[in-house]
Amino acid sequence: MNLFVCQVCGHIEFNAAPDNCPVCWAPKEKFTQNNDVFKESAEKSPEAGVKHQPKLSVEKECSMFEGTECIKVAARIGETVHPMEEKHFIQWVDFYVDEKFVKRAMMTPSVFPGAAAHLKVTGKKVTVVERCNLHGWWSAEAAL
Ligand SMILES: [Fe+2]
Repeated sequence: MNLFVCQVCGHIEFNAAPDNCPVCWAPKEKFTQNNDVFKESAEKSPEAGVKHQPKLSVEKECSMFEGTECIKVAARIGETVHPMEEKHFIQWVDFYVDEKFVKRAMMTPSVFPGAAAHLKVTGKKVTVVERCNLHGWWSAEAAL
């Protein structure tokens, strides 16, 4: 899998670097290919998966937007809830449909480490990437 990391905001793009980062608008040159970005986080903190791996749920008949086919994807970080403290917290959660970026949820220590996306589009799978300020990037996938 080809992974490209924005050196400005930490956003990850799958397959190719974009002309501009869809989160912070940094140009293509600011992306560095690192196909092992998730592996490196897991290897640095082998015990940390239980607190960092996003736990996903997909709700196909979400009722928030009546008359639509809204699909709700919720992500909790992680199986054991990750701390949200000034020195250690989940900074953001990014959502992708078929590896195409659709949403970033920014986080602060004032919230629980969870986020949701209400999808207008569908595809084969949703991917969620989160970044911890101390423990790096972690991801999970679910079928749509
Ligand atoms: Fe962490």
